[in-house]
Amino acid sequence: MCGIVGYIGYRQAYPVIIKGLKRLEYRGYDSAGVALLNHGLKLYKKKGKVADLEETVIGMDLNGNAGIGHTRWATHGEPSDRNAHPHASASGELAIIHNGIIENYANIKEELVKKGYHFTSDTDTEVLLNFIEDIKRNNNCTLEEALRIALKRVVGAYCILLMDKNDPSCIIAARKGSPLVIGIGKGEHFLASDASPIIEYTKEVVYVNDYQIAIVKADELIMKNLGNEVQTPFITELDMELAAIEKGGFDHFMLKEIFEQPATIHDCLRGRLQPEQGIITMGGVESHMEKLLNTSRILMVACGTSWHAGLVAEYLFEELCRIPVEVEYASEFRYRNPVINPGDVIIAISQSGETADTLVALENAKDKGAFIFGVVNSVGSSIARMSHAGAYTHSGPEIGVASTKAFTGQLAVLTMMALKIARAKGTIDESRYLQLIHELEAIPEKVAEILKDTSEIEAIAAKYQDAADFLYLGRGYNFPVALEGALKLKEISYIHAEGYPAAEMKHGPIALVDETLPVVFVATKDRYYEKIVSNVQEIKARRGKVICIATVGDNIIPSMADDVIYVPDADELVGPMLSVIPLQLLSYYIGINKGLDVDKPRNLAKSVTVE
Ligand code: F6R
Repeated sequence: MCGIVGYIGYRQAYPVIIKGLKRLEYRGYDSAGVALLNHGLKLYKKKGKVADLEETVIGMDLNGNAGIGHTRWATHGEPSDRNAHPHASASGELAIIHNGIIENYANIKEELVKKGYHFTSDTDTEVLLNFIEDIKRNNNCTLEEALRIALKRVVGAYCILLMDKNDPSCIIAARKGSPLVIGIGKGEHFLASDASPIIEYTKEVVYVNDYQIAIVKADELIMKNLGNEVQTPFITELDMELAAIEKGGFDHFMLKEIFEQPATIHDCLRGRLQPEQGIITMGGVESHMEKLLNTSRILMVACGTSWHAGLVAEYLFEELCRIPVEVEYASEFRYRNPVINPGDVIIAISQSGETADTLVALENAKDKGAFIFGVVNSVGSSIARMSHAGAYTHSGPEIGVASTKAFTGQLAVLTMMALKIARAKGTIDESRYLQLIHELEAIPEKVAEILKDTSEIEAIAAKYQDAADFLYLGRGYNFPVALEGALKLKEISYIHAEGYPAAEMKHGPIALVDETLPVVFVATKDRYYEKIVSNVQEIKARRGKVICIATVGDNIIPSMADDVIYVPDADELVGPMLSVIPLQLLSYYIGINKGLDVDKPRNLAKSVTVE
């Protein structure tokens, strides 16, 4: 959460920073600000989106070849002008932007208050900055030294950029737990939370590691550890095109990303799935096959939508590989002292690869000897780099805050993994293996089929958009899809929605059912079909409004449901990649009809880098 951008070089910093902040707005959009170095330090900040900041600074002096900018997702202190970043130090000489949380800021603040410091914001960031300034003054040392000393006291997560009015030749950056990428140009450097603000200027980047400090000048980049030892920057080539982070003619990123799914699932399968030869190639799985075959259990660790992908994977791995699977919310797992034995396999699922809870849960498990396999979308992200092995989902940058194409990419990777392990383990017979490979291969085309005509989904969205609550029900592989449908609706339309296993509704949620409650059944043709037909009848008997996701050709469901959305027939193991698509669209169209900002829903941020 929070997006940060920095620039130093021969260009004007402001336009580079503003453009970059717009690209990073998915990370937070409570307030935005910039600090520019130009014969002094100039700070401009504003509650609201980057566009609000742009309006505020019209007519102001925006010159400067070095600057830092921030788009905020509030942690300490409500969204307001005064809590917006950058913050200036008490002397006015230093400026800071920060992504993360300083957990022991209250103690440090108390010490500073006793020394006579006053604070103009409620943020932990301003405390950190004055702490650094205090150290600098008392030790008569450089900003870099003061920062190093300060960071040794700091508990928490941070990516910070600092500027000193008295030294316009450099920006100093540091990271622990929150991402930072530095773009290497000719006579210029770019700093950002992810590569999207950098991509149009250079493809050469350095991913800063935890506990590293970067001293960034126009024509020099020096990396050090907290012990002041110089470290050689590891330069990586970005594998990303500018078009991938633009809307490409769609009204919203979310819609673009939903419609990209035939291509993104195809990209995920491409080069891995070879149906004619009956082969699945996955380097990360192959090189650690022994570990995967010998493990007594697999833990899926993730949050949100990625956790739902983990639930589908639980069904897949247990059914195909006969390995017990536990699916853990990373935020619970990291704090509840779980039993982890050397040899346990953890599959970490994350779109961003930066989710703080997931990252820390994995670090703890790794320390205890677990083997970490990352299923990650964002290339070069923290989770990708800390995993022992992994498989990228290759879904491309996901900008819409609600996860869509990353989910189907995760399912594609996890299905291939399960099939590959099952075959090596001998827990799947060859004909079923080959059948599932062909089923998987057919998914992109079937998703395209669903997307060909969305008019029915749009009509259903219009019909139910004013409902106060929704219930989403599914069984088996479609149970996690029901959870995912409910999550999408909550995020995008702010309508309360609950996902439930369809049979479980009798144990409580059925009490909610009346003629005002839309109930969405994910009722495709699978082994539970007859059971879910009975569940539909139970809801109808109580006058609930039933919307069904059904398989093309079904003639029972349409006779019972109020509304039906059809998806192509598919094996139930790969079916979630189809049945989730109408649910993504339903939430999108309801959100749009309600006039909401579907790409940036309130209170959310794309990359949850604070716990
Ligand atoms: C839902 C959503 C979130 C994320 C969750 C995990 O649409 O986007 O629930 O799935 O924050 O994020 P990643 O996958 O980046 O670890």
